[in-house]
Amino acid sequence: MRLLHPLILSLTALSSCVFAQDAGANTHKVKHDYQSDVARLRKIVVNSLYSNRDVFLRELISNANDALEKLRLTALTEKGMWDGVSPLNLTIKAERNSDGEGGRIIITDTGIGMNAAELTTNLGTLAKSGTSDFLAGVDGDDSTATGNLIGAFGLGFYSSFLVADKVTVASLPPPSSKNPNPTQNVFSSSADEGSFEIYPDPRGNTLGHGTEITLYLKSDASHYLATSNLMQLVNQHSGFSTTFPIYIWYETEEEVPEVDEEAVSDEQEGKLTDADEDEAVVEEDAEKESASPKMKKVIVGHWEHLNSQPPLWMRDPKTVTDEEYELLYQGTFKDFQKPLAWHHFHGDSESGVSFRALIYIPSRLSEEFFNKPLDNSAKDVRLLVKHVFITSDLGEYGLPKWASWVKVIIDADDLPLNVSRETLQSSSFLKQIKQIILRRLIQLFSKIAEEDQEKYAEITKNYGQVLKLAASEDSKNRQKLAALVRFNTNQREVVSFDSYLENRKQGQKQIFYLADMGKSIEHLSQSVFVEKLHARGYEVLLLNEPLDEIMLQSIRNWKGVPFQDVAKAGLDFGDDTPEEKDTIAELTDKYAPLLEWLKIEAGDNVKNVIVSNRLVTSPCAIVADSMGFTANVQKLMSATSRGAQQNDAMQDFMKKQKVLEINPRSPLIEGLLEHVEQLNADGDDKDLDSEAQLKEVASILIDGALVRSGFEVADSNLFLTRVDRVLRRSLGVSETAPTDDTVKPAPPVDPELPSDIPVDDEKMFFNLPDEMKNNQIEFEMEEIDEHGNVVHDEL
Ligand SMILES: *[C@@H]1O[C@H](CO)[C@@H](O)[C@H](O)[C@H]1NC(C)=O
Ligand SMILES: *[C@@H]1O[C@H](CO)[C@@H](O)[C@H](O)[C@H]1NC(C)=O
Repeated sequence: MRLLHPLILSLTALSSCVFAQDAGANTHKVKHDYQSDVARLRKIVVNSLYSNRDVFLRELISNANDALEKLRLTALTEKGMWDGVSPLNLTIKAERNSDGEGGRIIITDTGIGMNAAELTTNLGTLAKSGTSDFLAGVDGDDSTATGNLIGAFGLGFYSSFLVADKVTVASLPPPSSKNPNPTQNVFSSSADEGSFEIYPDPRGNTLGHGTEITLYLKSDASHYLATSNLMQLVNQHSGFSTTFPIYIWYETEEEVPEVDEEAVSDEQEGKLTDADEDEAVVEEDAEKESASPKMKKVIVGHWEHLNSQPPLWMRDPKTVTDEEYELLYQGTFKDFQKPLAWHHFHGDSESGVSFRALIYIPSRLSEEFFNKPLDNSAKDVRLLVKHVFITSDLGEYGLPKWASWVKVIIDADDLPLNVSRETLQSSSFLKQIKQIILRRLIQLFSKIAEEDQEKYAEITKNYGQVLKLAASEDSKNRQKLAALVRFNTNQREVVSFDSYLENRKQGQKQIFYLADMGKSIEHLSQSVFVEKLHARGYEVLLLNEPLDEIMLQSIRNWKGVPFQDVAKAGLDFGDDTPEEKDTIAELTDKYAPLLEWLKIEAGDNVKNVIVSNRLVTSPCAIVADSMGFTANVQKLMSATSRGAQQNDAMQDFMKKQKVLEINPRSPLIEGLLEHVEQLNADGDDKDLDSEAQLKEVASILIDGALVRSGFEVADSNLFLTRVDRVLRRSLGVSETAPTDDTVKPAPPVDPELPSDIPVDDEKMFFNLPDEMKNNQIEFEMEEIDEHGNVVHDEL
């Protein structure tokens, strides 16, 4: 037995397959229940998009386009599917009911079609995993969320129910080696039903190949029957979704010469008059015309080609409106949101291929972007040759991770039309696409940064992290990318490196920054390391995103000015006078006894203790040695991979790279110095109690400095126990008095088991691991034959 797609199987299992005998058509109708989430989704789509019903046409045209593209591409390798000559097209026809009330819109494509199983899967299930979870979070009135949903899960078909009570989809795949004698099947569903039917089309194989969707319009949607409305909708909103020709059935009243033979003519007129009094127009006209008996008016229909203009990207950008760009984007990339920005250009590649291209920046980055490894399944660079879609899978020549979200249409002029993805691999143009797109994308960002501050702030909000990733990864474009990155500082928001340098103070030879991943900007601006710089009016970049420090390390300097972590040794204001240096030397002398004592007390925690030049009010801080890791890098290291298993040598190294800096102007430090000097003076006569107390204070001070500087305290319980003791002392409470620690024990073991917790069955199913879903359905496998058609067991 042929292996069937698990989804088809699971659906078959879900469907309550009722075989109904339709007496009239002698057709076996197979009834299926919608996968429960489909019904729910359909409802959400219909409710939330009601005011935006026009979208149905765009969605259906976009689906038809996919089916046409798929046929063309599959036929390159699967001979016999398509002769390469018969037209691939899309037709739209409105038909009024005979009573003039309501009617149908029929949208037909000559694309790849679907067999019964595919109709069931594509229209009856949600193909993408995760949809259920996503749905759970969607508020039915939130059209933004719904729009994203349509984009993310390709649910365009359900928009049919915005305008239709009932939808039938007749579909016929072309003959293939797997299915040499396909049959035409129908999917039929009403808007409010939880089920749909699949059955062989009683009309037989009428389509040749392709799909025909018939929308039985709701009574309040009959204005769509007016051909002029449909034409306008296609021209203004929907035509962008395809470059295949769209034809609409257009009826006009025309004067035609009557047939010469009078007998026939009379007979026809007689027939018309008898047949229907309601056909007043035709009849009256016929009578008026009787004076000149050689002409009469009749209704004549013809197919009118709607999108006969060259596609939008071939036009002069000056003639394209913003709305047209937006609609092209929405129709092509199935994103309901408007793009943030775009760039429309043409050029000649180094290999001499001339092309036109359009690059779009979506309104936001997908939430999974940073959680997902780069998969080459990103299908957002659409490569066309002479307006014919070739591929959106550039494989190894695809965009790098940082730019994998960019939406691109690139249409080459000079490549042979019959290129397939395989033959393209050898084309040098393919290899150049990446650099062409990246260069233009960077240009687009730069242009906005220069011309539209507000929009650029928006871009920074959505793509700031991406630009940092880009500057870290893309060594070729690094300078340009880093110039696009923006930061917060202790003084301003949205600051570029260039702008920072413009604000540099005389003598300043470093770009100051403080990094602490995950902390708020406000928290960073109050850091001990920033306090003096801020008080003196220096600007400090405040970095709180994971990629910040990684990026700085890959750039190393900006226009020759090195970066200085203000939490590390090496901080240089650049305006220190010799007198100030002397002062530090004097203070170091003065504090020598304390420095020495603290170094012993701090033990392994730090490498050295020095008098600080960077503190204003804080008594002390822990500073990383210029070679060591700051608290932020330590955090990054433990956040990545084997942080928990960092070996002892590494731990040891990190400890040893810390320096304790004390603030000579802090009264607390001055007090400590006095006490230590007293202790030294007392020598062997020293009071052991007060020595112990002083050690305790020092220990709290050091631990406090660690916390203040963003590091972790080695033993927080011990730290808090000490704080507790010092607090008791300051309140005059006995340090040793025990706390009453008797507690009420828990009751004995409960012999009664809790009753069953109710479980939501549907939820359960969708949360099952895939293997389990596949297992429970083996018994239904006969339902689909080797051609993928439903087999009708006579029950
Ligand atoms: C569309 O294509 C089909 C089959 O390829 C063809 O028979 C039909 O005439 C075309 N329709 C129009 C309006 O050109
Ligand atoms: C494409 O067409 C050209 C000429 O029309 C032919 O020489 C070439 O072999 C074709 N390539 C493929 C891959 O079919």
